[in-house]
Amino acid sequence: MNKSDTLIFTIKNQEEMTQFACDFSRLLSPNHFIAMQGEVGVGKSTFVRAAIQFLCQEPDLIVPSPTFTLFQQYDAPIASIIHADFYRLSSPEEVEDLGWFDLIQDAILFVEWPENIADIMPETHISVKIVDDPDFFDAREIVIQTKDMAFLNLLSNKFPTQNENA
Ligand SMILES: Nc1ncnc2c1ncn2[C@@H]1O[C@H](COP(=O)(O)OP(=O)(O)OP(=O)(O)O)[C@@H](O)[C@H]1O
Ligand SMILES: [Mg+2]
Repeated sequence: MNKSDTLIFTIKNQEEMTQFACDFSRLLSPNHFIAMQGEVGVGKSTFVRAAIQFLCQEPDLIVPSPTFTLFQQYDAPIASIIHADFYRLSSPEEVEDLGWFDLIQDAILFVEWPENIADIMPETHISVKIVDDPDFFDAREIVIQTKDMAFLNLLSNKFPTQNENA
């Protein structure tokens, strides 16, 4: 990826993260694959929870972290949503046993620890990397990278003033 594939956003606190996740989700459509990256506890599930609540139009929907179940499926008006967490995946082959390839048809996917299924990630996946701000406890940087230029254009049009890296 080079800089023209990348947008960077600065988030001050969890409330702003929730708002960003909603604004981001508004641009999604079936078959988008969102690779959620970042260190343990940085906020990947928090972002996905807000996105799923928004897409399902249910602000109080319970969205547990799927660390042990590997994935959870939600029915949103726009598409089926899959929230996966592959931290505990023992081998890439294990996803096949989950019926993964049938499940993901026309779905919107949010995958935490996508590094563990790197070989089967679509080339046009959208990487959302959340990075801690060492100076402010609740602040984060969100680095978005993708070869899906149509999506990147949608995002930079939505946030014209925050595009620090164009
Ligand atoms: N700006 C922020 N964005 C997201 N989470 C935040 C923010 N500020 C504080 N937090 C807190 O950080 C924690 C993030 O936990 P979360 O489970 O979302 O991380 P994770 O990246 O999914 O971890 P894991 O790698 O274990 O799956 C939560 O307790 C949340 O309240
Ligand atoms: Mg998580």
